[in-house]
Amino acid sequence: MTKKSAKKRKKQNAVSSFGQDPFIEEIEKNVQPEDPNIIYKQDLIVSRDEIGGLENVLKEIDKIARYAKFEKLYTLFGIRKNPHILLHGPPGTGKTYVAKYAAKKIDAAYMELNLTEHLSMWHGMTERGVIGQLETYEEVCKEHFMKGIVFMDEAESIFGHRGTGGTIHAYDNIAQYFLRFMDGTNQTEDLILIAATNKVEMIDEAFLRSGRFNSIEVGIPDRKGLYDIWEGQVRATERKSELEKVFKYVPYDDLADESYRRGFVGADVRSIIDKTIEDYIDNLVSNVEDSDELVTNVTIPGDLLLETLIAYKKFGQKKRVGFK
Ligand SMILES: Nc1ncnc2c1ncn2[C@@H]1O[C@H](COP(=O)(O)OP(=O)(O)OP(=O)(O)O)[C@@H](O)[C@H]1O
Ligand SMILES: [Mg+2]
Repeated sequence: MTKKSAKKRKKQNAVSSFGQDPFIEEIEKNVQPEDPNIIYKQDLIVSRDEIGGLENVLKEIDKIARYAKFEKLYTLFGIRKNPHILLHGPPGTGKTYVAKYAAKKIDAAYMELNLTEHLSMWHGMTERGVIGQLETYEEVCKEHFMKGIVFMDEAESIFGHRGTGGTIHAYDNIAQYFLRFMDGTNQTEDLILIAATNKVEMIDEAFLRSGRFNSIEVGIPDRKGLYDIWEGQVRATERKSELEKVFKYVPYDDLADESYRRGFVGADVRSIIDKTIEDYIDNLVSNVEDSDELVTNVTIPGDLLLETLIAYKKFGQKKRVGFK
């Protein structure tokens, strides 16, 4: 029996003897599961041991989770913290990934607010679209007695410098709305905002003032960070797979050295793992007619990861002295 089918059977037994989790039942009854912008907490998949580096970010998330859990106690002492975060850093360093992890850690649903989609609408609709969606999320949270993480990518599109050349009036109104939201006027206890940007220099200082967004850098990983990313992402792959083991003898030290030398980020590691698996499958199926007997006992030699890495040309990578 595969690892997964054993797990599934265990789960089914648990449901039949103890009944289903009332929280899940409630959600299944009342919420349209087809809303692709909401991932409920039981579906969140990012675990802490799958993330490499980013200790500063994880520490901040722990703090916010503690605050969210013991909010009443903080209030008792007269402390009101602002939990909203702005994650900034280069592409592929794990901003979206960490936001999903935060939802899991905080025990909240993960909700996406697509700012650029709303901005491409016509004038006037923008404001209604963004604020309307936020209000819907708030209702969903209230209805289910849960908190929601609202993730907003490309944050500079709304939190960029206000009132300067060419800014459309509606954006200013939305910016004002968010300022009030963070200052507590429109505050809801249910929603925590996590914004992300590659262009922090474009963010208006008003949003970074203390008591508004907590600004956290999500940087390029160092060698140790990369070592942990490789380990974490192989672990994540094995958890998702139906097999006991996907890779045999992974050369973590060599992978960390070589990927560090090439200035990799987490997204590059993820691409290499995926590409290695895809190439391996392509190779397998090119030699056989029937896949059934293959599926039971395949394990990919870990060295293939290093081979893929060496052949990998990062998109847009500039040639540097000493690089292949
Ligand atoms: N620090 C990390 N630890 C583990 N995995 C990571 C890390 N950073 C990135 N990854 C992997 O790379 C994938 C892509 O990263 P993600 O989309 O979170 O990057 P991003 O910073 O949001 O990029 P962008 O700025 O382009 O939106 C993740 O789903 C994850 O598999
Ligand atoms: Mg992202």
